[in-house]
Amino acid sequence: MPELSHSPPMKSLDLAQSPSTVGAGRPAWRVWLDQRMDQWMTSPGFYRWAIGNPITRFITRRRAAQLFELMAGFVHSQVLLACVRLRIFEMVREQPRTLDELAQACQMSAPALQRLLHSAVSVRLLESRGKQLYGLGPLGAPVAADQGLRLMIEHNAVLYDDMRDPLALLRDQIQPHMQAYWPYMNGDKTHGWEAEKVARYSELMATSQRFVIEELLASYDFSSHKCMLDVGGGQGGWVGTLAQKVPQLQLMLFDLPPVAALAQARMQHLGVADRVTVHGGSFISDPLPSGADLVTLVRVAHDHPDAVVKGLLAAIYNTLPRGGRLLLAEPMAQPLGSAPLGDAYFHFYLLAMGSGRLRSAQELRQLMLDAGFDAVEQVANPMPLHTSLLLGQKN
Ligand SMILES: C[S@@+](CC[C@H](N)C(=O)[O-])C[C@H]1O[C@@H](n2cnc3c(N)ncnc32)[C@H](O)[C@@H]1O
Repeated sequence: MPELSHSPPMKSLDLAQSPSTVGAGRPAWRVWLDQRMDQWMTSPGFYRWAIGNPITRFITRRRAAQLFELMAGFVHSQVLLACVRLRIFEMVREQPRTLDELAQACQMSAPALQRLLHSAVSVRLLESRGKQLYGLGPLGAPVAADQGLRLMIEHNAVLYDDMRDPLALLRDQIQPHMQAYWPYMNGDKTHGWEAEKVARYSELMATSQRFVIEELLASYDFSSHKCMLDVGGGQGGWVGTLAQKVPQLQLMLFDLPPVAALAQARMQHLGVADRVTVHGGSFISDPLPSGADLVTLVRVAHDHPDAVVKGLLAAIYNTLPRGGRLLLAEPMAQPLGSAPLGDAYFHFYLLAMGSGRLRSAQELRQLMLDAGFDAVEQVANPMPLHTSLLLGQKN
């Protein structure tokens, strides 16, 4: 086993603290009840009691299964990664394959590969289609269909590496590999950046942006604006799509110079270079281009600390005319206690990346209000899997 960093002995909590300071804001009866419930549910006789009658047995069985899923989660994600690396989804998408066919293509012994295939069947990535024949499962189908998803899964290996010792990561005792993956985490001086690194993260963003673009188009009417600026627009998938879908809209993109160069080439390739003006620069140290009545900030703020986000929002506010708007789209932390989709992933992803954090809609709204925007509102997103949306206006 690899040696993991050992934790210093933990200081024990002061259990004598007054109940009135614990769970502040919660009524005293609720605090009392929660404590009694915690004691009861962790008492030695509870499990036997819980499986002793049909209703509590049903709940207990469901919770046990959920807990097991949590514990096995890392193994499941490695099964997914192995299938992606071996290109199994692409192979079984063409037609169902036998174990021997797959073993030969994957250059692996049949018994070893069978473990992987059976594991993938158990988590519904693959499906058994008769004796020794494997096809796509319901969760494998979207992976087979989408290269962006496969790139995303592959690049998650960097995060898994950084999370091998989660305490060391939380205590800032390791240099996460994720920071090297995203070169702008080390500042915005792009001199000497390796072209291969810039192209790699920009390509990942471009392929994974497809779903975000669908969410944006389904949520807001872009045809009511004259000119839109996409700040941190990457290779320009978003502005390129709008150039094709909203003919009267003028478009601008702003990103770091090496990324802007990739965007310029992409606009030419799409045949929309006359509709999209690409600007290279850093929003930390350069002014933003003016002339837009709508600015979009898509999956950008969460990469940066509060001080940078405050400066960026103020710069966007200053560049807009009266009546101009900012549409901010990114994953946002869900209220604690709700069923958060992806919160744990983004909390740790952004920690490993180095400087940003997952903010709630309330926090981002306050940052937008502080920058001067009025009437900041959440915009309904019919498919809020990748982003939540906030819209603010300059009055
Ligand atoms: C997570 S990517 C999102 C890209 C795109 N908006 C999307 O949703 O696919 C963040 C983008 O912000 C850009 N960026 C980071 N720091 C920047 C800075 N200081 N100035 C300008 N752009 C920056 C990066 O180059 C990258 O393209």
